[in-house]
Amino acid sequence: MRIVLGVGGGIAAYKVASLLRLFTEAGHHVTVIPTEAATRFVGTATWEALSGNPVSNSVFDDVHQVNHVRLGHEADLVVIAPATADLLAKAATGQAGDLLTNTLLMAHGPVLFAPAMHTEMWQHAATQANVETLRSRGAAVLEPATGRLTGSDSGPGRLPEPEVIFDAAMALVQGETDYQLPLAGRTVTISAGGTREPLDPVRFLGNRSSGKQGVALAVAARNAGATVRLLAAHMEVPAPAGVEVVPVETALQLREAALAAAAGSDVVIMSAAVADFRPAEVSDTKIKKRDDSADPVITLVRNPDILHELVELRNSAGHGKRQQLIVGFAAETGDSDGDVLAYGEAKLERKGCDLLVVNHVGADKVFGQDTNSVVILSRSGAEPQEAAGTKTEVSAAIISRIGFELNHVSPRA
Ligand code: CTP
Repeated sequence: MRIVLGVGGGIAAYKVASLLRLFTEAGHHVTVIPTEAATRFVGTATWEALSGNPVSNSVFDDVHQVNHVRLGHEADLVVIAPATADLLAKAATGQAGDLLTNTLLMAHGPVLFAPAMHTEMWQHAATQANVETLRSRGAAVLEPATGRLTGSDSGPGRLPEPEVIFDAAMALVQGETDYQLPLAGRTVTISAGGTREPLDPVRFLGNRSSGKQGVALAVAARNAGATVRLLAAHMEVPAPAGVEVVPVETALQLREAALAAAAGSDVVIMSAAVADFRPAEVSDTKIKKRDDSADPVITLVRNPDILHELVELRNSAGHGKRQQLIVGFAAETGDSDGDVLAYGEAKLERKGCDLLVVNHVGADKVFGQDTNSVVILSRSGAEPQEAAGTKTEVSAAIISRIGFELNHVSPRA
């Protein structure tokens, strides 16, 4: 396939080098056309080397080949990334001041814009009107991803990840209208890590959760276009950039944070390992060992089941409200009474969530590891879906399944 890759003048231009690699490695012939401003971020030599083709942004280079007409005519696909506010405006108003805008006016095949800019620029009425105009003329404009922007600010405006733009471009060429990021415009709350239940100021009851799976889910949801809130219990890995982090320690704190965050969320994923019990008494001072005293006894009380509470809250919210998708995790071991899947099915019913991601755990499995193997059970009646690989790969499968359920499966109470 012949692809024209138009690169706009934004800091995200460097990420487009990875997108170019994805196109060339898939066997496509790519002509890169950077704008003048884009060459201030990434030089022409990089684009020539990576594409294996000459690069120009002037209509006056190789005039005998009539590039300003030919490139757009011949292209099976034109992808603009990053599509800056300026480029969207020029495209919407049909300007033709350089080789890229000429090419856009001559494009016969599908055109995909992957915007990247600061949130206010993206949300500005002028930019939104330009996006509408382009879409009404049949161009595909991706929703920008949400997350950390160039400065200290964050919000919608990040360039979607190269893999996401690649997938969208391929979907577009195949005539699929479903090229948008699966979670564009959605808010996703994810709990991650393990809660710690204090006994005294220095001791706690904890668990072996590393938070890796929850963090990988947060990255996958962010890359799928969602606004992500990460309710972070104890984690051994840092929280990713571009997500809002709410630190929590105990199950009770997590419950409070989850109920508050759920109110504005389209999706809630409970991947945290929540302690089922907490010490009944928490000593204000360090518990001392005294030689003459008997062995201490810790009395435990039950913690609330947060997942179950979230489901009840959602179900009682009434019919006017858009249904929320709630995803639970289950760490299971099989025994003589049933296998892992049977226990998973029973837990799905008991908890009432929409999806349950079932992990098969053992001393050597899952906790702290980089790989995972899960089965996703659904209350919509779909077949159990297996996903295995790195926690990143498993997360991508879970997030794409969530996107499918949100966009294609009608909600059930
Ligand atoms: N969970 C929760 N609140 C709790 C305990 C667990 O919200 N107090 C959530 C977890 O985040 C997970 C799901 O419930 O999404 C399953 O947790 P798990 O401990 O495996 O299931 P339990 O219902 O506690 O069942 P059991 O321990 O009996 O297997």
